[in-house]
Amino acid sequence: MTVREAVPFSSLTTLRVGGPARYVMEIEDVATIPEALAFARERSLPFMVLGGGSNVLAPDAGYEGIVLRMRIPGITFTKLDEDTVEVVAGAGASWDELVSEAVAQNLWGIENLAGIPGTVGAAPVQNIGAYGVEFESTLSEVTVYDACAGERTTIAHDTCGFSYRESRFKHEPHLIITNVSLRLKKRGAPQLRYSDLAGLTETEESLETPSRIASAIRSIRARKFPDLATHGTAGSFFKNPVIAEGAYRELTERFADIIAEHGAIPRYPMQRVGDVKIPLAYILDKVLGLRGYGNGHARLFENQPLVLVADRDAHASDVDALANDVAQKVFDATGITIEREVRSIPIE
Ligand code: EPU
Repeated sequence: MTVREAVPFSSLTTLRVGGPARYVMEIEDVATIPEALAFARERSLPFMVLGGGSNVLAPDAGYEGIVLRMRIPGITFTKLDEDTVEVVAGAGASWDELVSEAVAQNLWGIENLAGIPGTVGAAPVQNIGAYGVEFESTLSEVTVYDACAGERTTIAHDTCGFSYRESRFKHEPHLIITNVSLRLKKRGAPQLRYSDLAGLTETEESLETPSRIASAIRSIRARKFPDLATHGTAGSFFKNPVIAEGAYRELTERFADIIAEHGAIPRYPMQRVGDVKIPLAYILDKVLGLRGYGNGHARLFENQPLVLVADRDAHASDVDALANDVAQKVFDATGITIEREVRSIPIE
């Protein structure tokens, strides 16, 4: 087991900010987890799990503990019946590679989630979602190493506590995800409700197979999201707000002039009747004019202001300051308290 010391979070996360992690251990297989936890216990240090680091903000002060870098590999496909294939993947596998392998086999279910950075093990934590599809819709079960009980267990879909960008894994860090099991379908129908895709169907000759949908989504994402190779970013920095229908109506009255010019504020119905999700990007762009708005080292991306980008010299404090400033502006204009989608790492 290799242990590295004082590894900067700027090299472990895609936002590329943050001070040193005291220790970092690569977890290549489940058997090393108990060793890593024993190492932490002996030193009375906390531990945390990191996947691709594409959805976290690490503090400038770093982390006085042990980072378990999840690397457990493997993606296997097993036919369950005429129409269903089970996919079991290691938590350290690349999510986008899993999507690529699935669509190459013409399997339906996760094609809309193409192009999302990060690892398989991170997918259930925040229940990743895009273009009208959430990860949980194909999940069968999650295998974890329970650091409190000191054993592996399996958690079925219905006890994962999923909702919009939410699961129990966010609140129970002792559940270390080691494997994820999905059910994909040999027959399926394209899910093209989302506005960008609905527009595409008119122009593209065919979005009828999972692989064509995945490649259409990859090209939409390439236009909207900054390239990780050249930008420090963690994708959408905030969650899209979920508000009551009444609050939505108030917004449409308050911003009648803006709506007359730019069109209605889109809304997506939520599972709870009477709640709607609205794109924060609309508020940031059309109401507040914040595309490209920044504070020197961090700014809201010009093509999609929900995405925050940090430059080479940025510190976590620049990112925090901008995020707080933006949240205040949104509150002042709309009365909505926005939440971060990106997770903050505590110092210890
Ligand atoms: N909009 C503007 N101005 C802009 C950009 C967008 O007004 O400059 C408005 C438009 O009305 C547009 C709407 O905002 O229709 C929605 O924007 P978009 O479709 O780009 O996506 P989003 O709702 O902002 C969500 C997810 C993304 C996911 C995309 C695509 C969240 C927090 N984000 O963003 O997920 O990829 O939809 O489905 O729900 C992530 O969570 O990290 C993430 C990248």
